[in-house]
Amino acid sequence: MTEGQQKSTPQDVLKQAFDAHELVTISFSGAEDVVLIDMACNISEEVNVFSLDTGRLHPETYRFIDQVRNHYGIDIDILSPDADALSAFVKEHGLFNFYQDGHQSCCGIRKVAPLGKHLTHYDAWITGQRQDQSPTRTELPHQQIDIAFSDERRDLMKYNPLSSWSSAQVWQYIRSNNVPYNPLHDQGFMSIGCEPCTRAVGPNEHERVGRWWWEEATKRECGLHIINVEEESQ
Ligand code: ADX
Ligand code: SF4
Repeated sequence: MTEGQQKSTPQDVLKQAFDAHELVTISFSGAEDVVLIDMACNISEEVNVFSLDTGRLHPETYRFIDQVRNHYGIDIDILSPDADALSAFVKEHGLFNFYQDGHQSCCGIRKVAPLGKHLTHYDAWITGQRQDQSPTRTELPHQQIDIAFSDERRDLMKYNPLSSWSSAQVWQYIRSNNVPYNPLHDQGFMSIGCEPCTRAVGPNEHERVGRWWWEEATKRECGLHIINVEEESQ
């Protein structure tokens, strides 16, 4: 962690992103992201948010997305996978091939491709990733060039304002500011993704144990944050 990173609050990082770029968007799926939306609504009048609808989210998550939309009075871009690519994939591999073949190809169609397409409209995006979430995120900076989604036109910037926050800090903010959260958290879910690839965790288990539990911990990046793995292996 750099000295600058220790001193900057998440609000400082958000403000920096809004000041530096005209076209910036917040990616939203979990508790951390609503904290960022809450902070952003106090900093900027126009807050741009998107969520990747894989088609496999829990019913509670769909309701939660709409709850956040209504709570903050914001529009949320809900992004769907390409229908033709998805139906060809499911026809060939079925609906649950990730348990045998790994999650990369399904995540590729349902998350990474729609994300890549959406980000071409932006100069920067904001994520709720934290360093202590995963062995792939221990070096996560507040800001980085997202080489996975940059193109010849521009470097895409990626901001991770909560990178040095703990889960406890996130939940303290949620409780103190009455921030809406996914009701699955009250049923033992900590890190929430798609329904077939997410499970509740036991007391003192790490949050990431509940995601893609049949795969090695170092492979548990779905492609949204593939630079974490690429940068680690360099
Ligand atoms: S994942 O890559 O393993 O699924 P994780 O659930 O830890 O990611 O979330 C980390 C960050 O990725 C979130 O804070 C959010 O910024 C982004 N993210 C994850 N899933 C989605 C999604 N479905 N839609 C939009 N952003 C997402
Ligand atoms: Fe498919 Fe599971 Fe990835 Fe969701 S998390 S896109 S269901 S492999």
